[in-house]
Amino acid sequence: YLSDTVKAMECMHVTDLHRDVSLRVTGEIHIGGVMLKLVEKLDVKKDWSDHALWWEKKKTWLLKTHWTLDKYGIQADARLLFTPQHKLLRLQLPNMKHMKVKVNFSDRVFKAVSDICKTFNIRHPEELSLLRKPRDPKKKKKKLEEVEEDDLELEDIHVFLGSIYSSPGLYSKTMTPTYDSRDGSPLSPTSAWFGDSPLSEGNPSILAVSQPISSPDILVKLYKPQSLLDKAKINQGWLDSSRSLMEQDVKENEVLLLRFKYHSFFDLNPKYDAIRVNQLYEQAKWAILLEEIECTEEEMMMFAALQYHINKLSIMSSDNHMNNSEKEVDEVDAALSDLEITLEGGKTSNTLGDITSIPELHDLSLFRPKKLTLKGYKQYWCTFKDITISCYKSKEEAHGTPANQMNLRGCEVTPDVNISGQKFNIKLLIPVADGMNEIWLRCDTEKQYAHWMAACRLASKGKTMADSSYNLEVQNILSFLKMQHMNPDPQFIEPITTDINPECLVSPRYLKKYKNKQISARILEAHQNVAQMSLIEAKMRFIQAWQSLPEFGVTHFLAKFQGGKREELIGITYNRLIRMDASTGDAIKTWRFSNMKQWNVNWEIKMVTVEFADEPSLSFICAEVDCKVVHEFIGGYIFLSTRAKDQNESLDEEMFYKLTSGWV
Ligand SMILES: *[C@@H]1O[C@H](CO)[C@@H](O)[C@H](O)[C@H]1NC(C)=O
Ligand SMILES: *[C@@H]1O[C@H](CO)[C@@H](O)[C@H](O)[C@H]1NC(C)=O
Ligand SMILES: *[C@@H]1O[C@H](CO)[C@@H](O)[C@H](O)[C@H]1NC(C)=O
Ligand SMILES: *[C@@H]1O[C@H](CO)[C@@H](O)[C@H](O)[C@H]1NC(C)=O
Repeated sequence: YLSDTVKAMECMHVTDLHRDVSLRVTGEIHIGGVMLKLVEKLDVKKDWSDHALWWEKKKTWLLKTHWTLDKYGIQADARLLFTPQHKLLRLQLPNMKHMKVKVNFSDRVFKAVSDICKTFNIRHPEELSLLRKPRDPKKKKKKLEEVEEDDLELEDIHVFLGSIYSSPGLYSKTMTPTYDSRDGSPLSPTSAWFGDSPLSEGNPSILAVSQPISSPDILVKLYKPQSLLDKAKINQGWLDSSRSLMEQDVKENEVLLLRFKYHSFFDLNPKYDAIRVNQLYEQAKWAILLEEIECTEEEMMMFAALQYHINKLSIMSSDNHMNNSEKEVDEVDAALSDLEITLEGGKTSNTLGDITSIPELHDLSLFRPKKLTLKGYKQYWCTFKDITISCYKSKEEAHGTPANQMNLRGCEVTPDVNISGQKFNIKLLIPVADGMNEIWLRCDTEKQYAHWMAACRLASKGKTMADSSYNLEVQNILSFLKMQHMNPDPQFIEPITTDINPECLVSPRYLKKYKNKQISARILEAHQNVAQMSLIEAKMRFIQAWQSLPEFGVTHFLAKFQGGKREELIGITYNRLIRMDASTGDAIKTWRFSNMKQWNVNWEIKMVTVEFADEPSLSFICAEVDCKVVHEFIGGYIFLSTRAKDQNESLDEEMFYKLTSGWV
């Protein structure tokens, strides 16, 4: 059986024929030659062009067809799979619907996500990635089929083979829809499903329209992370962008979550981004309903009112969508011009050239907590200039030397607001040598709060009130507060009807706290503030309000810090790293990316080290999570921050891999 001339005796398994095949070849044969011989031996008429060899033991694709078996180091006993590169994934979209998509399992995940996004018509695929489905630790392990059944109750499955599978010439866009002979799924061109330009064609794409949550059971059933540690666990599931799905043990038909990974949305534009805006709105909606992100009660009612409004308009617009395409385009234009929505990471703001003096703020009380109670505070009179707050004992002393001065660069800014209680506080955590200094600012009015809050947010980024984004920030804060006002004019409130479904609009915590009727009444009151908004404006406002929440954009990971004893968290955001207390989430110290010199990973001891221009370096060990995931978050944000407004769709993919794989 074995001859001297045969160096390798390959045992190959052809996955889609369920056949084992042996070939007699020498070690000098190329991979391409092996595949040719194999296909000859199989003698089955079939398009094999998508097939490639997979080396099971080494978990690697043999894609370099000109390499020999010897060069790959493949021995006679190696088992190789001859298998299609494109396989089905069950993708859970941000709106929680599942779709079956054919994806190239040998492409790097970054490329696979780009292809998926191209099919779905979502711009800026670099902001999304794939996440493994989190397991609810409380649920007992079930058999696979049962879990699947569980899912099916929640999902609409749309099966399609998108353009990602149609290599040019396979079928054209004009080809009439047909069906896959194997599983009967429609093989329609994607344009029929999603539309090339859904808004302009008056063809509401299924991905661009929000579907109301149909039953409160869904909310009850879905996994809700209870603590920051639970959230950190979910983040362990992000796939490695620079490796393929197959190499990461993703199986055919596995459920993966497609999510906006980096909370930085470049150039979000309702005109081109109908699907992106809707999916973003949906991701925000579910994050709030599943309590993945904290918000106050007043904010929850505002989100519920916006959701109620969006549901209503979505049903209306899909009822007569043949009629109102023009209206929608008008609405988009209106939303664009009125709103001038600038989201974080969006338009670059320029400092206005014609401002001669930088605006200042005066007259505010500031207090420092004594032993964390707000009672024993010391009050000062403060002014805000550039990025510095100066405190004086009294207004009269304001021309003298301040009792205290604080530079706000790099500080953490958190609101503490209760509108009905007329409480407008700002909590500042200001970095000092050995941690963070806690300061509270107390504003008397909404207007004063909006100005100081905007100034603090800008100052934390090192920008002054002269920056062109300042006024916009003030307006955004004011409109955010206005949406939460509760001074209803009874004349305009809709009567409570059963179709409000408050169980589907607020998180389970509030369902426990109040009666449904009470919640309905409050949602309808809050709805008054948003009832005039167009559909697209309401979604954009929802996204914007989500971005205003203190925890927005922080991705948590479990970490052990050098010198630290307890388990702690590292929070990664678009512009900084935050060391946090694992139980309370309080910031212990923050570091800005803008101040970073370099970072690297010691893969052996799983340690990430970040060096800064003017402070001691930071080192932490990735506990539980693969260091690559953390590394990729840092590199990914650095990559995203290099995007420029005038940059077109093409991305520097190699730069992304360099930054996220530690090649620099
Ligand atoms: C699938 O991905 C691999 C690796 O990037 C690539 O070589 C191959 O051409 C891709 N297949 C198709 C049909 O695009
Ligand atoms: C289209 O809109 C017009 C006015 O806006 C309305 O009168 C008409 O009934 C609508 N048609 C359909 C099919 O909804
Ligand atoms: C907000 O203030 C109102 C009025 O003072 C009070 O009833 C309510 O409990 C406060 N809410 C929170 C969350 O503190
Ligand atoms: C970007 O694309 C548009 C049209 O697609 C083109 O007119 C413009 O010149 C491009 N800009 C750059 C900087 O490549």
